[in-house]
Amino acid sequence: MGTLRLGDKAPNFDAETSEGKINFYDYLGDSWGILFSHPADYTPVCTTELGAAAKYKDEFEKRNVKMLALSVDGLESHKDWIKDINETQNTTVNFPIIADEDKKVSDLYDMIHPKADDTLTVRSVFIIAPDKTIKLMITYPASTGRNFAELLRVIDSLQLTAYHKVATPANWKEGEDVVISPSVSNEDAKKLFPKGFKEVKPYLRLTPQPNLK
Ligand code: BEZ
Repeated sequence: MGTLRLGDKAPNFDAETSEGKINFYDYLGDSWGILFSHPADYTPVCTTELGAAAKYKDEFEKRNVKMLALSVDGLESHKDWIKDINETQNTTVNFPIIADEDKKVSDLYDMIHPKADDTLTVRSVFIIAPDKTIKLMITYPASTGRNFAELLRVIDSLQLTAYHKVATPANWKEGEDVVISPSVSNEDAKKLFPKGFKEVKPYLRLTPQPNLK
């Protein structure tokens, strides 16, 4: 498998997880998906990350996104560690964690970056659309826990821009104005965006988020 890039088909796999055996595509069904790796069980940053992810489960569900975590530790380790996460992060881990001891999935998704660590996965994130194409990839180092609110923000942008000819500006949040795609003429923009738009420059046109009442 070569390096994965945006727009590539997310590779399918079978895996052992803390919630039983899964086939990735069957698990995703027609939903969006977020697949995220972390370096190791029983480590401090990972413990906080999985606790944070669990607290956002409802928000991911609202957006029709299935969650799936991964580390190269084994099943028994995952199951015991989940008890610690639940206890210390005051939550219930409510999504599967892949036990990727043979590194099959980590290799498939290029989650081991040998110059950072030659055995453990880095903090990779893949967001996958219902057609199974990869829409977002980010990579954080082991030393930096991810921001799950940011991942939800990106999903809001991806889901909005999948259906409307807009893009979202820097630091955009759900409900704020968006920019009109450069490929849309002003004439078409008048029809597509009945709430109107503001032309700051011919290439910078702002309009209210189109899918809000
Ligand atoms: C952590 O999750 O705390 C961690 C994992 C691997 C290396 C450094 C930190």
